[in-house]
Amino acid sequence: TERIIIDCDPGVDDAAALMLAFGSSEVEILGITAVAGNIPLEKTEANARLICELANRTDIRVLQGCGRPLLYPDRAGVTVHGADGLGDIGLPRPTSAPAERTAVQFIIDQVRAAPGEVTLAVLGPMTNIAVALSIDPGIAPMIKRIVFMGGAAFCPGNIKERAEFNFYFDPHAAQAVVASGIPMVMFGLDVTHKAIITKERTERLKRLGKISGTIADMLTAYGAGDPCLHDPCVIAYLIEPEIFSGVEGFVEVDCNSPLAIGQSVVSVTPRELAGRAPNCLVMTEVDHDRLFALLEERYARVE
Ligand code: BDR
Ligand code: CA
Repeated sequence: TERIIIDCDPGVDDAAALMLAFGSSEVEILGITAVAGNIPLEKTEANARLICELANRTDIRVLQGCGRPLLYPDRAGVTVHGADGLGDIGLPRPTSAPAERTAVQFIIDQVRAAPGEVTLAVLGPMTNIAVALSIDPGIAPMIKRIVFMGGAAFCPGNIKERAEFNFYFDPHAAQAVVASGIPMVMFGLDVTHKAIITKERTERLKRLGKISGTIADMLTAYGAGDPCLHDPCVIAYLIEPEIFSGVEGFVEVDCNSPLAIGQSVVSVTPRELAGRAPNCLVMTEVDHDRLFALLEERYARVE
């Protein structure tokens, strides 16, 4: 089993990713760390607890992390997730108490407790990870790998012409993390835009049971604005990596251009690499039928 911390901003597709992890014994969830992104931190944190409650997984620790990006406090979230961040489908509020504000220290402690064994599954802006690396740079070589949703290597952005939302929301955090030397697997829009949420797929999910039905309702609401299953790709990769394929590249994030801030720049050819070794496996393809089959199978286990 892969020991993971899920760092996220739920978020409809984050919620779908959490449920996938809950149904999968290939991953051991050490904790869920919330960050500001799609919606403000108090909502992402509450939504993370709610998802745990809906799945009867209140044994999993949820922690609050950073409430704003490193430099841009006023970056607006996106609206496709609805006002409550979970598609406004009428979900209840969580009953548990708000989580401790110790996500960054939690990440540091977990990595130090098991050097080389902890994988960070990052589904939102990278603020928590960047701050952890800033407080304790010594953890960088101890992190097994970072598998993240963010960026767009060879395709346009989604929040800006050149930038994907997670990288745009906190470009400086993304820049710091991708430059950290930690082994990385990137799920950018190149691949997640190929994991399309269709009516047929949500209808199938809906018929499976209560949890799958809730996810289907969220995805239907969200899919109207952004019909792509981004964050679950990260968890699916940790369960069944063969579903995806990509290229080795060197990833950097631009923070200097007013037009392209938050853009991920990926060097692949020898000329582009100019002697640098690739720092990331950049995913570009997904077998989407297998991905949705995996979701169905695993959501059924959460019911
Ligand atoms: C990313 O932005 C968020 O809205 C989604 O949850 C995903 O992590 C896609 O650009
Ligand atoms: Ca997300």
